[in-house]
Amino acid sequence: MPYRIVFAISGASGMLLAKTILEAFASISDLEVYGIVSENSQQVLNAECEAEANYFAGLTKELFDPRDMSIGPASGSWQHDGMIVCPCSMSTLACIANGCGRNSIHRAADVTLKENRPLILAPREAPLSRIHLRNMLAASEAGALIFPFMPAFYKGQLSIEMMMRYYAGRILDQLRIPHTLISRWRDDK
Ligand SMILES: Cc1cc2nc3c(=O)[nH]c(=O)nc-3n(C[C@H](O)[C@H](O)[C@H](O)COP(=O)(O)O)c2cc1C
Repeated sequence: MPYRIVFAISGASGMLLAKTILEAFASISDLEVYGIVSENSQQVLNAECEAEANYFAGLTKELFDPRDMSIGPASGSWQHDGMIVCPCSMSTLACIANGCGRNSIHRAADVTLKENRPLILAPREAPLSRIHLRNMLAASEAGALIFPFMPAFYKGQLSIEMMMRYYAGRILDQLRIPHTLISRWRDDK
């Protein structure tokens, strides 16, 4: 059985980050990725890449409609190995942290938490208000992992491309999905 993950994209800055991660995931043979792109991501796609939702075409096994509450990941009986929201807007974070299922991303995240599966949120905003921080704490207390793209400036990893790829690998580590995307500290002998 392949690993199966849900990759949601909400309307925060970071469409290139999402695409680079999806491209890295596409190189992993035993991994099926199911995407959901929020309606509000469209404006960010336009602003950041002059692109439409087809920017992510071919990078997922299926791209679900964010308005459709009947998609597989909206039900706990649809099995998967974890969900990622990247980038995660403060609006989507607030909905997830407070259990508001306004679209199928929020619903799938809610289901992931209730089924006690890994949920990884990559919030993107700066600076952070107390509301944002409280929502991150609430989501963390509910079982989500708050994992923003916060690159380290390690020697040999100084291009944005390499930083994004390293982050993709660390996401897979959190999901316990084997990969060879990154080289590992003290593991180079
Ligand atoms: C170009 C652009 C960039 C944005 N960047 C961010 C951001 O980095 N973080 C954020 O929380 N919201 C950002 N927003 C605002 C969100 O898109 C807005 O709150 C939206 O309602 C989020 O909806 P969604 O979470 O359903 O995708 C941005 C909006 C635009 C148009």
